Order: sequence, then C-alpha cells, then structure tokens
Amino acid sequence: MTYMNNICADAGTANCPCPLAETGDCLICNRLAGEEKCDCRWPGLCIYNEFIQNDGVVRNKRNESKAKIVKKIRYGRDLLVLVLSVPKGFALSAANPGSFVFLRGIGKSSFSNVPVSVMRADAENGHLYLALKIISGKTKVIAEAEDALMLRGVYRNGLLGGGVKGLAEDVHGGRPDGLGAGKSKWLIMTKGIGFAPAVNLLQWADARADVQMVIDTEKINEELVHDSFCGCPGMKTGAVSIRLDSLAGAETYNADEYDKVILLASDYYIGHIAQTLEVPAHKLVFCNNFHICCGEGICGACGHVDSQGNVSKMCKCREMNVNELF
Ligand code: SF4
Ligand code: FES
Repeated sequence: MTYMNNICADAGTANCPCPLAETGDCLICNRLAGEEKCDCRWPGLCIYNEFIQNDGVVRNKRNESKAKIVKKIRYGRDLLVLVLSVPKGFALSAANPGSFVFLRGIGKSSFSNVPVSVMRADAENGHLYLALKIISGKTKVIAEAEDALMLRGVYRNGLLGGGVKGLAEDVHGGRPDGLGAGKSKWLIMTKGIGFAPAVNLLQWADARADVQMVIDTEKINEELVHDSFCGCPGMKTGAVSIRLDSLAGAETYNADEYDKVILLASDYYIGHIAQTLEVPAHKLVFCNNFHICCGEGICGACGHVDSQGNVSKMCKCREMNVNELF
C-alpha cells in the first residue's frame, strides 16, 4: 500500500510544515517522508528547508481555543446557526472557500469533535457563522452550549475536485476565450445543509462570477436559506440567481454552459449529477463528505483506497477523480 497524495491542501500555507513532517509522513516532500534524495515537484518554498530551519519542530500547529458564542439562531427543531467570536486573522483565513473548523463542547473529550463547514466569516467584526444540523450526541452538546465552545482550525480541504484551483482564476480573470466574454459562469447545486459552504463561496467570489444556484431544501427550511443568502454579494445585481428545486431534476442543466459545476450534496447526488451531466474533471468542484476526524492527516479516518490499493488522506488531498470516488 502506498500513499499518493500528490497535492496537500496545507502545502505552502502558514500550517506547513505540519505534524506529518515530524513523523516522517509528509505527503509532498520525499525527504520528510523518510527518503534520502529529493525528487518532489513542489514549486513553492522548500518544505524540508522550512522544517530544518525550525529546528525540526512544527511551530504553527492548530491549537484549540475557547470561542465565545455571540448568537444562536434556531430554525425549527434541528437546525442551528451559531455566531462565534474569533480573532480577525482567524476569520480572514476562514473566509476562503472550503474552510472548515472543529467544534467541541467545553469539558467534553476530543472524541466529541465535530467538523463544521464555515458558512460565513466576517473578518471586520471577528465573527464566524456556522450552520449545523442537530443529529445526535455530539451536535446536541454543541447546540446546548450557551456561552462558549472549543474551536480548532482553520482547515482548508472542504472542497474537492479538479475545478478547485480554477475558482480563483474564475473570479479574477473572467471567462477563458472560447467560452464567450464576460464573467465566469458557475452552476452550484446544493442539498440539505450543503448550502452553507456555498454561502462562504459566494461571499468570497464577491459577485465576480455569474452564479446559477439550485437549492434543494429537503431536510432544511426555506427561512434559513433566505436569511443566509440575503446579504450575499450579487443577490441585488442579479449576478447570483437562486432557484429552490429538487436535485432530482438536475439533468435538465447543461455543463457546457458553465465554467464550474459545484455540487454540495451527498455522495449519491455528487456521483449521479457529475455522471449524468458529464461534467469534465477540470470544471467539477464537490464537497468533502469523507469521515474527517483529526483533519491533520494523522488518524487515517478519511482514507480513500483507489483501485490500485493506494490510499489518499482526504482531509489533505484535494484532486480526486469523481469516477474513482463514487
Ligand atoms: S503534509 Fe502538507 S502541510 Fe504537512 S509538511 Fe507536508 S506539505 Fe506541509
Ligand atoms: S481526518 Fe485524520 S487523517 Fe484525515
């Protein structure tokens, strides 16, 4: 069995080198994975050099800290929006698409950690908005907390697929020649609580892409969707249009008309829609539904074994072929 994470979501960020460098398990650098010579293709700052310069110690681990609860908004019996107070730098980092954090009730063991997608990050006020579906023990503890929660983050790999790295080019460069002039066009389809990372994505895109959204509100409610999207850039100008509809009718859309097709739903819908619409790998973005436990590439809970027997740690690895996954 070999590890084949060619791409690490944390490589070259403030959180690299990470604890995997200390244990000789770096996903990119051969030398930090126990080999003698370097033949990695990482184009950024040398990770090995960084680690050695830091005396072989990881200086910037993501530690837990207490986050004050600013507001709790209940929607029906099992939906909750939490607003947490965080340092402004933390909020700024969480504003990137695909960001997620871990939450835990104060006094609870680390078994109680829950990974939650960032719905919105307000860096000016240092506020983090998270939407949760209250399902079982761990989420019930979080929902019952009144004053503060333990928070760890920010983690980056909430979005997967060959289209992720093109999102920034889309919002800064517009449509490539050959697809017509103007802004890039995105089709975003969400089901259930999957709408939350779409809010963060739209905030980040800041109306620099034309977005058609299809939101399946089964298992959530329309008031929550309305409240969450109403302040999004592009709603007033028409750059973002929202349709509440069942994803069962998704085959009426044509992937050729869009620069990105972004699917934030269950694995069933991601696989079904990606295959039905024949979405090319470079256009496809989808949410990371793997079982995330540590988020650091340590525990192996998120491991995906491909047909060759190679394992990818999906909390870190970003580029996956959807046909291989589902
Ligand atoms: S696994 Fe990723 S984050 Fe960790 S040291 Fe290697 S490149 Fe950096
Ligand atoms: S969640 Fe632990 S290795 Fe990915």
